[in-house]
Amino acid sequence: MKIGNDIYYVGVNDHQVDLFEGQYVVPNGMSYNSYVIMDEKIAVMDTVDANFKDEWLENVSKVLDGAKPDYLVVQHMEPDHAANIENFMKAYPDTTVVANTKTFTMMGNFFRNLNLDGKKLVVANGDSLTLGKHVLTFVFAPMVHWPEVMVTYDSTDKVLFSADGFGKFGALDVEEDWDCEARRYYIGIVGKYGAQVQKLLKAAATLDIQTICPLHGPILTENLGHYLEKYDIWSSYKVESEGVVIAYASVYGNTKKAVELLAQKLEEKGCPKVTVFDLARDDMAEAVEEAFRYGKLVLATITYNGDIFPFMRTYIENLTERSYQNRTIGLIENGSWAPAAARIMQGMFEKSKNITWLENNVKIMSSLSEANEAEIEAMAEELCK
Ligand SMILES: Cc1cc2nc3c(=O)[nH]c(=O)nc-3n(C[C@H](O)[C@H](O)[C@H](O)COP(=O)(O)O)c2cc1C
Repeated sequence: MKIGNDIYYVGVNDHQVDLFEGQYVVPNGMSYNSYVIMDEKIAVMDTVDANFKDEWLENVSKVLDGAKPDYLVVQHMEPDHAANIENFMKAYPDTTVVANTKTFTMMGNFFRNLNLDGKKLVVANGDSLTLGKHVLTFVFAPMVHWPEVMVTYDSTDKVLFSADGFGKFGALDVEEDWDCEARRYYIGIVGKYGAQVQKLLKAAATLDIQTICPLHGPILTENLGHYLEKYDIWSSYKVESEGVVIAYASVYGNTKKAVELLAQKLEEKGCPKVTVFDLARDDMAEAVEEAFRYGKLVLATITYNGDIFPFMRTYIENLTERSYQNRTIGLIENGSWAPAAARIMQGMFEKSKNITWLENNVKIMSSLSEANEAEIEAMAEELCK
């Protein structure tokens, strides 16, 4: 696949991966993207996951068509991109590796036997590398989402090689909506680092970008404003859409019944969107994604051994560690002798910024009472205001 005049896609699709980054289900697989820029000097942009060494080297070799690469640019040391640096250097030993100081330190730690003496080009933030027609400028993007990350701007073709930024779950041979799987990817993997992404977006705003080449997911060539706007919303923790997410944990079904009644009442009242997650059974990453997408969240759990149910604890930790903020939260608790879940859940958001707590919460003693039904009605009313 050719991008612009001289840039070639040499990435691979992974349909074998069980959990991406050790925790994310990827029903449509994953792509590890890599690119070759053919100019007077030839640059290869990043490598791919260890399992795809042969396929990737074959893709690179086809594009090179007998030519020798001059540079291997390493933007990010995470092994889904960097695993084949040593294999590449064995195949093309005269190549110069282009990276920053932090990247070279990590490279030494990942590849104990790799000797790059005389084959390193250490770049600083803002440095440029001329390939011929193409001039590459390196822009550091620390903590988006590792400290050594840099992105690369090709001012000739107006391409931003964006590292993991603008990435998406899903292989490139499967067609699917960008927003949903890019949001789940962003919130899950980069969500904690909103301030750093905002900084990168400000740097990107000064560049004329016509194509975004990420390390995962499709190459973005049209309607770039849409993707930039989504990244701006996600990284500034703004509400993307009006709606209510209800996330629950229930053992014997009574808490679940309360949740179902609340969802029904919200729908009857015309709430624009209601999404319900059973935290023990549904995809945790999607439940997290949706909490960041919508403005209102209801958390419903049983009290469990004087604490809250483990899946709910994990869920809230997933939210707070990603700087969950600017949202409204309501609480439904259940307990058969000493309900404590609401207090514990609220306490877990102690350090979260700009949380509005509903006035109408629900306290269930084992099973729904008439009073609980009235509480749920009041909660639905308040959520729909
Ligand atoms: C293993 C286990 C531990 C529980 N621990 C507590 C507890 O510490 N305090 C309490 O008031 N209720 C406790 N409960 C009761 C639940 O909070 C809840 O009232 C009960 O499971 C009914 O809700 P459900 O049908 O949604 O599961 C416990 C229940 C289970 C299954």
